Amino acid sequence: MKRTHTCGELTAKEAGKKVTLAGWVHRRRDHGGLIFIDLRDRYGLTQIVFNPALSKELHDTAEGLRSEFVIMVDGEVSLRPKGTDNPKIKTGEIEIVAAKLTVLNTAKTPPFEIEDDSQISEELRYTYRFVDLRRKCSRDKLVTRHRVCQITRSFLDREGFIEFDTPILTKSTPEGARDYLVPSRVNPGKFFALPQSPQLFKQILMVAGMDRYFQIAKCFRDEDLRADRQPEFTQIDIEMSFVDVDDVLDLAERLIKEIFIGAIGVDLKTPFMRIKHSEAIDRFGVDKPDTRFGMELEDLTEALKGSQFQAFEKVIASGGIIKALNLKGQAGMSRSEIDSLTEFAIKEGAKGLAYFKVADNGLESPITKFFNMPQMEAVAAKMQAVKGDMIFAVCDKKGTVNGTLAHLRLHLAEKYGLIEKDKFNFLWVVDFPWFKYNDEEKRWEAEHHPFTAPYDEDVGLIEKDPSKVRAKAYDLVLNGIEISSGSIRVHDRETQFKLFKAIGLSEQEIEARFGFLLEAFSYGAPPHGGIAPGLDRLVAMMTGTDSIRDVIAFPKTQKAVCFMTGAPSDVSEKQLKELGIALTGLTPKK
Ligand code: AMO
Repeated sequence: MKRTHTCGELTAKEAGKKVTLAGWVHRRRDHGGLIFIDLRDRYGLTQIVFNPALSKELHDTAEGLRSEFVIMVDGEVSLRPKGTDNPKIKTGEIEIVAAKLTVLNTAKTPPFEIEDDSQISEELRYTYRFVDLRRKCSRDKLVTRHRVCQITRSFLDREGFIEFDTPILTKSTPEGARDYLVPSRVNPGKFFALPQSPQLFKQILMVAGMDRYFQIAKCFRDEDLRADRQPEFTQIDIEMSFVDVDDVLDLAERLIKEIFIGAIGVDLKTPFMRIKHSEAIDRFGVDKPDTRFGMELEDLTEALKGSQFQAFEKVIASGGIIKALNLKGQAGMSRSEIDSLTEFAIKEGAKGLAYFKVADNGLESPITKFFNMPQMEAVAAKMQAVKGDMIFAVCDKKGTVNGTLAHLRLHLAEKYGLIEKDKFNFLWVVDFPWFKYNDEEKRWEAEHHPFTAPYDEDVGLIEKDPSKVRAKAYDLVLNGIEISSGSIRVHDRETQFKLFKAIGLSEQEIEARFGFLLEAFSYGAPPHGGIAPGLDRLVAMMTGTDSIRDVIAFPKTQKAVCFMTGAPSDVSEKQLKELGIALTGLTPKK
């Protein structure tokens, strides 16, 4: 080994010892002839002193040291003079009196300072990720990720799970995104798809009798990117045989509990709360509610029906609804603030935003004149309004009302500081509908993936009334973010076939895409189910960052480009020719 110790471990106990340290020059200070270097590595900082009285030559070499040079120093551990120690760091009592200095490498001036509080653009930070990761704040998030993976492996191993690798070059697994395709040179005109998840392989491993599977699995999805989505991300993918919903939820809760206590010392209360999908939509407008604050939605359709307000009446007559939320104590809000919230609601798809200020003598609003007293009283009672409250209401199609108010609820909570940021509120959302209607394509599709088992008593409704079929599916939501999703699966050929047909697949398509799965099901498939926590999202929330990019060593931009390498990139004519691919005018121009 080139070094005897790291830069984060020497203390007064080692005083007098001869040591060799190696690392990066963090800072150089010249003080009355002495040169001080803070030498840095992953483990910490150690102060090195170059004294011209001991060696003029060594001191001269140290004068040439610049930030981020990589050096090796031999010297003696010495107690720092009284009053100069630094109690903030572990090595703060000592310094190394240098006897030898080797410059292992020089460095250009770094693009930003290696300090936790440096203000750096994302682009610069990720382009120079090798410099960024020298900062403790960036590195620590990846260390937490490592801890989470280790705890996961150890927990699942103790629980009898076997870790598998499943193919990366494979066939499409529909998880609702576009596939990344890879052309096969040896099979001209044919393509692999990168897995959107290992879903079908893990199910087939259950058919194979493996009983308990897990994988810290890479998944690839070509979809519109956001702060919590990357084209390439990681799942803690789990599957179990002979289980029901409660078994999977119980295992996942115990895993998450162990991860939180082990990696960040937070002791979560289990079992987590559970609500049905329909209740989540009623109360919060979304299937992934943030429960760190209240401001729940109330349905005012019955209360306001039959008024003189034509805009509302028309919508109600055509099946629409009115829902509202109560922003406590904000009746004093300015006109321009109301206007900007109205704009917000319109951007979310609503036609407008009605409001009622709660004053001494009841509700005040430009539209109160259209309603009678009992109607206004009913609104006040439903909204539990007290003087000073501000009520916002949306009247529209059900989906628009829920969507708009769900976003408005989050927006207002953020703006008025209603969210307790240090809380971890877990919530199971269960009993999802199996189908959702795709208005554009005029067909039913799967709300989760199409391998999800319907409720046994709802199987007869698959062809008759898809809207009523419930799924044995569950999502785990943390502070309003979906961090896990899973289900009990279909394990018989007939039901799976029926469901494929119900989402519009022809027999030929079913055979071509999923023939291997149906074939496996006809050789004795056990009942099975599983779940897949998103590792990146989980670690992002545990480390308190808004963007999952922070917990990925080499993340991609919003446009799915690698900041550092610039991938994806052009390929040579020769490579294209070998693959039999001709680029068309669709290729985006640089
Ligand atoms: P699902 O598609 O819901 O389920 O994904 C499971 C979890 O993976 C995370 N996730 C993502 N994280 C970052 N970037 C993305 N683009 C992204 N997409 C999803 C989320 C999500 O909850 N095979 C099923 C699981 C199962 O049924 O067992 C699946 O993939 O945290």
